Amino acid sequence: MPPSFERLLRPALRGFAPYKPGTSVEEVRRRHGIASPVKLSQNENPLGSSPRAMAALASVATLSDYVEDEHHALRERLGRPYGLGAGHVVCGHGSNELIQLVFTAFVDPGDEIVTAHPTFALFRKDADVAAAHTIEVPCRDGVHDLDAMLAAVTPRTKVVFVCDPNNPTGARVERDALFAFADALAPDVLLVLDQAYREYMDVVGTEGVDVLRRRPATLVLRTVSKIYGLASVRFGYGYAMPEIVGYLNRVRLPFNVSRTAAVAAVAALDDHAFVAQTLRSNAAGKAQLTDGLERRGLHVYPSATNFVSVAVPVSGDAAYEALLERGVIVRSGDGLGMPNRLRVTIGTHSDNAAFLAALDGLLATWPRAPVEATP
Ligand SMILES: Cc1ncc(COP(=O)(O)O)c(C=O)c1O
Repeated sequence: MPPSFERLLRPALRGFAPYKPGTSVEEVRRRHGIASPVKLSQNENPLGSSPRAMAALASVATLSDYVEDEHHALRERLGRPYGLGAGHVVCGHGSNELIQLVFTAFVDPGDEIVTAHPTFALFRKDADVAAAHTIEVPCRDGVHDLDAMLAAVTPRTKVVFVCDPNNPTGARVERDALFAFADALAPDVLLVLDQAYREYMDVVGTEGVDVLRRRPATLVLRTVSKIYGLASVRFGYGYAMPEIVGYLNRVRLPFNVSRTAAVAAVAALDDHAFVAQTLRSNAAGKAQLTDGLERRGLHVYPSATNFVSVAVPVSGDAAYEALLERGVIVRSGDGLGMPNRLRVTIGTHSDNAAFLAALDGLLATWPRAPVEATP
């Protein structure tokens, strides 16, 4: 018997599984022997990476020195569209790191956080790691129920997460409802507004920073992983009051943002041509998928993002497996809190067509059950 080291593990982590990202192309090649699967599972940019970012990366002369830790020029650039200074901007190794830093800085074991359900899985996972308690408030038609979330706040609540647009449903909260919620939320509770997909509505999108101006205990999160096509470089950023930025900086690793990430991010932010091309492709692909799925009698949440969330007449896991066998990788909603749904990234025209064709083969074999919209 090999020795067990479970005694070393914090009790909060017993029975805990690692975060499960969407299936990778490498995994499908290895496990299923499919050489070129169509990948619509991780909400990546199907057009690739910003060409300006790639050119900037090619001009990096050295990686031998430690990068400037404060990334002052980059933070100034990020604050500029909103009239904010560098002091209002915090940078992370992806916005995922900033979510984790919120827990490290603010959340003790036994504290509470409030989230929607379903929503981005990392909020709950990081809370579990912190031995915090997550109050999950069911969405209505894929949209955050902000009144119910407000009612769920208790004196133990440290953080409320609003994911807008929401992953995995794709739905948005109304701007006025968001402002009313922000005004009503206790001023000493941190509101984290995760806007990873916000650029798909409009690139600047001011309401996050408008919320910050209304209530100072706010952190607005953005990323270059999606519309700029830079998921691999790992760069995300946040807007908050300098005091909050300072607390997050206290607990982050030194040099958490690499030179490659900083160089690529700053170049991508000015790549207006690539962003415009991505928005055109995404709008066309969204229409292709939404119309195609609705014509097949399948319910789709209105999407403000680069993915659609569709109800299927079998379990999400069964649909995912069946599509995988046909060479199309999507995400099952079952493990995302969206039973009997799939989350499908909007791909190129031919990727989307391949998905719809594979689905047609399956719909002929599945029961024609009335489609229930899940929350
Ligand atoms: C809602 C949401 N927030 C944050 C992230 C993480 O982004 P990043 O790549 O910047 O860590 C994602 C990525 O899928 C996401 O869907």
